[in-house]
Amino acid sequence: MEVPTALTTQRAPTHGDTAADAPALVASRLIEVIRLRDPDLADHGQRAAHVAAAIAAEMGLDTASIDRAYLGAQLHDIGKLGVAEAVLWKPAGLSRTEWTQIRTHPEKGHRLVADIVHRDVAAAVLSHHERLDGAGYPFGIDARTLPMTVRIVQVADAYDAMTSDRPYEGALAAEVSVVEIRRCAGTQFDPDAAAALASLLAIGFEDDLAIDLTGDETAPALLSADPFAAAPADGSRHGSALTVE
Ligand SMILES: [Fe+2]
Repeated sequence: MEVPTALTTQRAPTHGDTAADAPALVASRLIEVIRLRDPDLADHGQRAAHVAAAIAAEMGLDTASIDRAYLGAQLHDIGKLGVAEAVLWKPAGLSRTEWTQIRTHPEKGHRLVADIVHRDVAAAVLSHHERLDGAGYPFGIDARTLPMTVRIVQVADAYDAMTSDRPYEGALAAEVSVVEIRRCAGTQFDPDAAAALASLLAIGFEDDLAIDLTGDETAPALLSADPFAAAPADGSRHGSALTVE
């Protein structure tokens, strides 16, 4: 059988096909894969990304960190693509074995993204279920040792989960969700990130956090740099969350 030419020859570089662009392109394709498999999961990631970026900006983080919080939230649950649908979408009553399967998703996701995205983004994928009191998973580490980006994604993830309709529970009001997150600050969540979320709601940012999902997955306007914007003319993406360092 003749071997297809495409498998035997090196593809010639094309316009925009630079080493600097490749991580951004792969990361955006991974987000598309999430949406193909599970649009609800993609929507959750997108809303959480919007909230994470807002928290990061409220905390005064620099542009690169805001970008990393955004992308980390978009990708944080990608490992759920490796969990059986029957387990993932089971409304309630998960067995111990099924919980064990779900708890593999941070490490599965991390294996997918670790050599593509910035280490802080990869850390958000691996460690978004760790807690400050060490009672989280997969490793039970003290979340205070994690980058702030990860602790922001944790708060954004929890906020969106609570304010969204779930199979086993209706959506909570934004105010109720923030009270719960602040109650868990210091044990589960980072107190500064929780306080920043509360500040955003206190100044009437609730409508901005509740984004309308219309398939547009570009970064919100509050970001000073969009990780998925067209690359600069010189091909550089310096400062992007997608830079592998
Ligand atoms: Fe998760």
